[in-house]
Amino acid sequence: MQISAAIIMLLVFLKTTVSPLSSPVPTQKAEAAARCRWRLLLNVGREEGTWMPEDWGASGSRLAIPLLVDFEATRSNLDDEMLVGRNSLLVSPASDATFINESGEQRLQVNPGGWSVEPPKEGKSPAVLRFWLDFGEGGVKRDTTLPAGKVFFTAAGWMDEEIEVGNKARNKLVELLENDILVNLKAAQADYDSSNPIAKIAKLSNLVGLSTARDNAVGRIRSIDASLPKRGDVMKPGKFPFIDSRFRIAGGGLCVKRPGKMMGSEYHILGTWSCTPVEVEDEEQ
Ligand SMILES: *[C@@H]1O[C@H](CO)[C@@H](O)[C@H](O)[C@H]1NC(C)=O
Repeated sequence: MQISAAIIMLLVFLKTTVSPLSSPVPTQKAEAAARCRWRLLLNVGREEGTWMPEDWGASGSRLAIPLLVDFEATRSNLDDEMLVGRNSLLVSPASDATFINESGEQRLQVNPGGWSVEPPKEGKSPAVLRFWLDFGEGGVKRDTTLPAGKVFFTAAGWMDEEIEVGNKARNKLVELLENDILVNLKAAQADYDSSNPIAKIAKLSNLVGLSTARDNAVGRIRSIDASLPKRGDVMKPGKFPFIDSRFRIAGGGLCVKRPGKMMGSEYHILGTWSCTPVEVEDEEQ
């Protein structure tokens, strides 16, 4: 478990982050999207593979913490965080964070952080939204705590066009595989099996070629699947500054940064989170 968590974190580091600020200068239309409001729901508690202390959240109790945030089109001017990348944009809380424990409803004050989006790699991996918020105070519910300080959020995201293009490419490959490659492979296999040993030699390369084509098609379908939302992911699309199209954000991971045992930093899994867009413009009109 620990090894798989370490590998995931390493992959997160190896990705380079591109700041959305490298996009063209905002036009008047983009000005309207200078801030985009989303409702976050943090689900803090023990997850398999976490490096949090063994007694942390051991009872399975969880903190459900809703809050509103605005993803803004201005630089955060906060210290860079390696996980989010350089020149992060500002993400500001638009409400307190709340949660309920045995003493009733609790309010937590939250400070702004930085956000960025890493673009998708077509047919390979989706875009990744990363940001942090700084919790001025922590929260307690039995043996599960939200520590005070920075909490990091990561999640995959998709634009509708991307999902459409991916599904089209996938359908084409499935059709090629089922109606062409597999049919020919079956015929070639039968032909090979019924041939005499001398004729088999001549027919082998055709058989090998077709099974290679089958493996390639299956591999490409798998990598498209890895780049698309999982079946059953239901996500309401919403806007982000600088991103022209509406964006669907999958449920993602929460973590905290801790000093590494040897050097550098480690990220410890703190739970999961999800989000839905809030139409601010509607409210203000
Ligand atoms: C409820 O949360 C508050 C704020 O984190 C904390 O001070 C209090 O001790 C908690 N109550 C219980 C019963 O855990």
